[in-house]
Amino acid sequence: MNNSRIAFIGAGNMAGSLIRGLVAKGVPGQHIAACDLDAAKLTQLQQECGIRTGSMADIAATADVVVLAVKPQGMAEVCAALRPSLQDGVLIISIAAGIPLRSLQNWLGSERAIVRCMPNTPALVLEGATGLFANAHTSTAQAALAEAILAAVGVSVWLASEEDINAVTALSGSGPAYFFLLMEAMQQAGVRMGLAPELARQLTLQTALGAAKLAVGSDVGPDELRRRVTSPGGTTEAAIRSFESAEFRTMVEQALFAAQKRSVELAG
Ligand SMILES: NC(=O)c1ccc[n+]([C@@H]2O[C@H](COP(=O)([O-])OP(=O)(O)OC[C@H]3O[C@@H](n4cnc5c(N)ncnc54)[C@H](OP(=O)(O)O)[C@@H]3O)[C@@H](O)[C@H]2O)c1
Repeated sequence: MNNSRIAFIGAGNMAGSLIRGLVAKGVPGQHIAACDLDAAKLTQLQQECGIRTGSMADIAATADVVVLAVKPQGMAEVCAALRPSLQDGVLIISIAAGIPLRSLQNWLGSERAIVRCMPNTPALVLEGATGLFANAHTSTAQAALAEAILAAVGVSVWLASEEDINAVTALSGSGPAYFFLLMEAMQQAGVRMGLAPELARQLTLQTALGAAKLAVGSDVGPDELRRRVTSPGGTTEAAIRSFESAEFRTMVEQALFAAQKRSVELAG
């Protein structure tokens, strides 16, 4: 990865995180180039990471990898403008939500190596989770490169089919919001029990962080970790019983299926 020339089309939130993650992983800033409509975003990244900037045509023409990081609604237009500048053998990585490989192939050429990804916002703090799927024109080396680029901002996993992107969108793509909702509800409950709002916030966030770290570092699953902290007749058991009687698991499952269905609808 350290010798590849990577061009970012769009230098917003996601591209900015990827660029920062790549530089933190040792990719020289001079191997990374970006273009954006907003010059201020480019200047910031140039100063912070030492990347190159230029026109879309210029940065694409010398790239081994082009990362498409504009909003989905602008993707058709960007691909049309980009296509004449692409080298043969270039790898395209699209992080755009809801844009299928068939559309990208229509816009960029049916023989192009393209990897479609679904990252999530914790990529902003280098703790992202990304699902990837490669088209048939992607070589093993290109797939490894795509995986390494996304792994610069967290964990990246390969999917068995492109349709799985919809499940990934529902699970990890939208997932941070589910944890924020739980944090919000816990914080509100803490306040209702008499804690000062700031105290309730601090305790909630630290508990979420601590639980995540315990779960990630553990050799047993969350089910076992839950059992271990649930003493018979204790306070945790009282809370878990209350969750279970309110059909918590069914509620979560229905929510994720609703997100998956919406992801399919948005992809057209
Ligand atoms: N954020 C997430 O949680 C998340 C998660 C998964 C996937 N994604 C995907 O990641 C992509 C980027 O999202 P984001 O949140 O990073 O968006 P963003 O912050 O709006 O970044 C997109 C950038 O691309 C620029 N741009 C638009 N048209 C351009 C063009 N023709 N040439 C060069 N630059 C252009 C935009 O400039 P202007 O602002 O001036 O238009 C903006 O700076 C999206 O496709 C989204 O679906 C995001």
